[in-house]
This record gives sequence, structure tokens and C-alpha cells, in this order.
Amino acid sequence: MFKNDLLKSKRILITGGGTGLGKASAQRFLELGAEVYICGRRHEVLTATEHELRASTGGRIHSRPCDVRDAAAVEEMIGIIWADGPLDVLMNNAAGNFLARTEDLSLGAFQSVIGIVLMGSLHTTMACGRRWLQAGHKGTVLNITTTYTTTGSAYVVPSAVAKAGLQALTRSLAVEWGNRGIRMNAIAPGPIPTEGAFSRLLPRPELEQLAKQKNPLGRFGTVEEFANLAAFLVSDGSGYINGEVVTMDGGEWLEGAGEFTALGRMLTDKEWEMMKPKKTSPAK
Ligand code: HXC
Ligand code: NAP
Repeated sequence: MFKNDLLKSKRILITGGGTGLGKASAQRFLELGAEVYICGRRHEVLTATEHELRASTGGRIHSRPCDVRDAAAVEEMIGIIWADGPLDVLMNNAAGNFLARTEDLSLGAFQSVIGIVLMGSLHTTMACGRRWLQAGHKGTVLNITTTYTTTGSAYVVPSAVAKAGLQALTRSLAVEWGNRGIRMNAIAPGPIPTEGAFSRLLPRPELEQLAKQKNPLGRFGTVEEFANLAAFLVSDGSGYINGEVVTMDGGEWLEGAGEFTALGRMLTDKEWEMMKPKKTSPAK
């Protein structure tokens, strides 16, 4: 759906790029001509992805272990990347999440998820943003949030508060840094099958069917659909989009939010017919 040189000469860092949506985006960005850096905590996962994507796309890809919760480690990684030239795009995709009753959570559980999602994204954004501003270099940040940033969600509270903060960061810096050449946008995906997300958030297989049923399109999203949207949002073709959170969920959150949706789905054809206005014979 894009010209093959859409991202030519773009240098892009994807946090959490070794797996799932980050890996799919890395593949798409490479196919479109970008030079891609991926980071994550697990060296072996990163190296495997680096080799796989280099072989399948022939593109320029580099990987480096880095825990985004560690501000000093992030600063060191960004410094090493910048030594070869400035990045043009930062994609804050690394995340942690699990299903739990909030009253059972330890302080460490909150710190872990908020540390990855919110503080990790702040560390990378500040490290890149300060460099871009100082050099007058144009930059684009794409943050990956979720559909529950505005509604909140039970049982994933550390993630909900962290992703809501990330959405606030997106909109705040879109305004503060926009006039200095930095765009900030976000994608809020609904469920897309990845090992990382589904192993933690769908503990029983039959719940997948239930999740599909509550989606107007009756299915999950795909990593390819996600990667194409990400490619558009980091490309110059979307240059006037700034501070936007693009929901990509098949209409799922609207289905859940609509007052009469569930009720309407339960009514029979006969009941719909009965609710139509009765035809009266015209007055003589
Ligand atoms: C309660 C838990 C827990 C659980 C961990 N903890 N899992 N508490 N229920 N299921 C607590 C631990 O007891 C510990 O607290 C603290 O969290 C840190 O746990 P560790 O295992 O030591 O941390 P770490 O190895 O750093 O792992 C981080 C993690 C893990 C977030 C807990 O799940 C992870 O590595 N996730 C990365 C990938 C991921 O989550 N992907 C899914 C993204 S999907 P104490 O107090 O003992 O120290 C997504 C959106 C999906 O975000 C939306 C779908 C629509
Ligand atoms: P995933 O495969 O588990 O991706 C998460 C990535 O983050 C992993 O590569 C992980 O690698 C990395 N990561 C975790 N903690 C890190 C840390 N401290 N430092 C650096 N990297 C770290 O799950 P995914 O489904 O692709 O999720 C990708 C993004 O999409 C996340 O932001 C998620 O919240 C969002 N999202 C996903 C869905 C979905 O249904 N899949 C829906 C809505 C939003 P390591 O473990 O090696 O560090």
C-alpha cells in the first residue's frame, strides 16, 4: 500500500522491537527503506530478530539490550546511536502488563509496569527530544497506548494509569515541541494476537471467542494492519498529524460504550417488527 522508498533515509528506534508489534513494525519499516534500531531486555530475542529481519528484508537493522526503566542505560544507548547520526523517529512500544485484582498488587508490581510504560517512554523521549531541539533536527515520536487510556480498565490498573500518562505526554509535547519540528502521535490498538499480550491477558482459550464476539468486525486486528498504520504515522506523508491518538480496534471500544448496543443485539426480528410504528388507515 506504500511506495517502497516511503521511509528511505529515516533512522528509527523501536523500543521492545524484538517481539510482537514492535518486530512487525521493524519489518515493515525495513521494507520501506528505513534504518532500524531495536532494543529490549533480552539479548537472545533481539539478536534472533535482528538476524531474521536482516535476512528477510536485506535492510539495515541493529539491536541493543537496554532496560528502558534505567534512565542512564537509555542515555547511553541513545548516545551510541547518535554517534552514527541522529535518529529521525522514536517509537515507544515497550510495555509490561498482566491481569490482576488491584487489591492484590504489590508496590513492585505498580512500579514495574509504570516504570516500563510511562517512565521508560519518558526516558527515551527526553533523550531524543533534547538532542533534536538542540540541533534543530526534525523528529517524530510514535507512542503505543491502548484503547483504555480514556475509559480506564478494571484488572489492568498499572497499565491503564501508565498508558493514560503516555497519552497525556503525547498531547502535551505535540503542542510544546510542535513549533520546533517535533511531531508526537500515538496508536491505541485493540486486541492484536501476540505471544506477549495474549499469554498474559487471555488466560483461557475460550475467552478469545468472547473477545471477538464483542468486536463489531468479529475479529482481532493483525500485526500487518498495525505496522502499516505505524509506517504512515512516522512518514512525512502524515506531516500535518500532530497530537493525535489513532484508535485501531475495529470499533470495539465504541461497541462497549454505546448505551443500547448490547440490548439491541439481544432483540429478535419479531421484537424489532413489533417496535415499528403501527400503520393506521387514513382519516376519511
Ligand atoms: C501480580 C505481578 C504479576 C502478576 C508480576 N508481578 N506479574 N503481580 N500479578 N501476574 C509483580 C511481581 O510480583 C513483582 O512485584 C513485580 O510485578 C515485577 O515482577 P518481575 O517478574 O520481577 O518483573 P519483570 O521481570 O521486570 O517483568 C515485568 C512484567 C512482565 C511487566 C511483570 O509481565 C513482563 O516482562 N512483561 C513484558 C511484556 C508484556 O507484558 N507484554 C504485554 C503487553 S500487552 P514485587 O513486589 O514482588 O517486586 C499491553 C496491552 C494489551 O500492554 C491490551 C490488549 C487490548
Ligand atoms: P510484546 O511482544 O510483549 O512486546 C513488549 C516488548 O517490550 C517486548 O519486546 C519486551 O522485550 C519489551 N520490554 C518490556 N519491558 C521492557 C523494558 N523494561 N525495557 C525494554 N524493553 C522492554 O507485546 P505486544 O503485544 O507486541 O505489545 C507491543 C505494544 O503494543 C505495547 O506497548 C502494548 O502495550 C501495546 N498494545 C498491544 C496490544 C495487543 O493486543 N497486542 C493491544 C494494545 C496495546 P523484553 O521482554 O525482551 O524486554
